[in-house]
Amino acid sequence: MKDNIILIGFMGSGKTSLGIRLSYQLKRTMIDTDKWIEQRQKRTVSEIFAACGEEAFRKLETMCLEELTATAQRQIISVGGGLPIRKENHSLLKELGKVFYLKASPETIYERLKNDTTRPLLQVEDPKGRIRALLEQRSPIYGSCADVTVEVSGKSFEEIVEEIVREI
Ligand code: S3P
Repeated sequence: MKDNIILIGFMGSGKTSLGIRLSYQLKRTMIDTDKWIEQRQKRTVSEIFAACGEEAFRKLETMCLEELTATAQRQIISVGGGLPIRKENHSLLKELGKVFYLKASPETIYERLKNDTTRPLLQVEDPKGRIRALLEQRSPIYGSCADVTVEVSGKSFEEIVEEIVREI
């Protein structure tokens, strides 16, 4: 297993913001799989979903993970909320490093994302219902991919960062 720290969890669970803090505190660089894909593809995640569909985006996520597994060392890696859902990504995540699941409640996620327009999967009539349904389907998968589960709802960034650092 490599020496990276991987952050997984639903959209809005704080992976990117916490990754930036951890990166600063641990003096490690950070990679965000969505940003990695956007830079390579020269378009946003929303544009990729609109032009090529979700399945094409999922393939790009696996490509990204394969490349990171071959190259990344001592990095903080924040992965898109749907990446752990693909079975073939599970062994890659394990190989990549220690996996932390940032577990947030549907209420916390909805509050954080209710005005967001950058998540194509939540641009629906009933985003609250969509969050609940996806979370129900994904939570067990996040849990089974994780080495450590960190509850994030109701905690400050400092508390969460401290919890993660204690586990490293
Ligand atoms: C997705 C999560 C997003 C992004 C895409 C799909 C998902 O990343 O990869 O919109 O399926 O949960 P964040 O979790 O960083 O928002």
